[in-house]
Amino acid sequence: MRLLILSNPNTQVSVASKIAKDKGASVSQVSDVETALDFVRNGKGADLVMVDVSLDIAGFIAALAAERITIPVIACGITNDSKAAVAAIKAGAKEYIPLPPDEELISSVLEAISSDKSSFIGESQAIKQVINMCDKVAASDASVLITGESGTGKEVVAKYIHNKSKRSGKRMVSVNCAAIPENLLESELFGHEKGAFTGALARRIGKFEEANDSSLLLDEISEMDLRLQAKLLRALQEREIDRVGGNQPVKVNIRVIATSNRDLTEEIKKGNFREDLFFRLNVIHLQLPPLRSRGVDIGIFADYFVKKYCEENGFPKKTISDSAMKKLNSYAWPGNVREMENAMHRAVLISSPQVIEESDIMLSNGSGNDNNAASGSVNNLVGKTIGAVEKDLILNTLDHCLGNRTQAASILGISIRTLRNKLNEYEAA
Ligand SMILES: Nc1ncnc2c1ncn2[C@@H]1O[C@H](COP(=O)(O)OP(=O)(O)O)[C@@H](O)[C@H]1O
Ligand SMILES: [Mg+2]
Repeated sequence: MRLLILSNPNTQVSVASKIAKDKGASVSQVSDVETALDFVRNGKGADLVMVDVSLDIAGFIAALAAERITIPVIACGITNDSKAAVAAIKAGAKEYIPLPPDEELISSVLEAISSDKSSFIGESQAIKQVINMCDKVAASDASVLITGESGTGKEVVAKYIHNKSKRSGKRMVSVNCAAIPENLLESELFGHEKGAFTGALARRIGKFEEANDSSLLLDEISEMDLRLQAKLLRALQEREIDRVGGNQPVKVNIRVIATSNRDLTEEIKKGNFREDLFFRLNVIHLQLPPLRSRGVDIGIFADYFVKKYCEENGFPKKTISDSAMKKLNSYAWPGNVREMENAMHRAVLISSPQVIEESDIMLSNGSGNDNNAASGSVNNLVGKTIGAVEKDLILNTLDHCLGNRTQAASILGISIRTLRNKLNEYEAA
């Protein structure tokens, strides 16, 4: 997790910086917008930028957008500066952190953005086979394709492979192809030259170059459009890339790990995915089994997440009642490990001090004490338009997934792009 702080040096921001460092982030600080832009253009990379509201946040966010650079920006400023906070959010900042910084708030923001978790849980036969395979192939430079339903741990596995590889001295660079709008993805991956498009004020290094000598994780690769797939294929074959607007290819030495929650052979049949690219990526294929078929892992994960969230909240470790465990074991977990993590997190928060009971476990199929909304009969819905019911369903599912769009899209059975379009519609309405 790399945090860039854009602020004049002052004590409160230094405290925030120290907290972030203690949480394992690598922190850089710059004091003006231009230097910050240079920093991100030059491929030094930041996963998150924290900007002091007394600086020109709107200008900074607009400059990032104009240069097609996608990095989440959060604002920070002294507590009573509510106007500046509102302005920062309006300008596109994702969060506002009041200063002096609250340790817990900083770490939860860092955690929400980063996914630097390295522990790999699981004792089931199915998962042992996956780990075994990872151990065998980690050291080679072969491309790896990891498939599986959303929430099965594809990113966890990608990190595990990178950490075991000879490239582990450099951090793995990740690009979530589903999260970045289509028109920005090319520049994100390949960078651009000055003047490549209106707004390209300077050369910008893309993720391929940033990942030189390391691994590049192309997350949710099936969401990449066909034109970009062609460019990606060329980059993988030639081991060189063209920056957007550039005419001098740049050599890159990277190992690619790609993930997808779709069946790529199906996507090839439908004409959505290039077969030649598939063969390039599919040198080693790891298929992650859904949680419901992992037997003992359900109990292991449940214990692990209960322990984790009890610790995080300063509670003594709670136990899980037999009937609660039975409920966990009989549920289908369409959102897999991610859904279970959310369910156990909620259970820890709402249960009594010692024991997590069956009723504390709220699941999305209405089998919990979650009797609201559409879980009842269809009669309740008569009188509503399809659009309204769809909106309710989408928003409730998103809420259930604590805002995780990839997981929500997977449960809803729609693409993340469709989900994003729907949400934009609701926002505009
Ligand atoms: N084997 C595992 N060990 C520990 N945590 C896991 C494991 N598998 C998944 N998780 C957790 O579940 C969540 C989803 O994992 P992720 O790798 O993002 O799934 P995917 O990329 O397949 O959607 C993450 O919070 C991750 O830490
Ligand atoms: Mg993922």
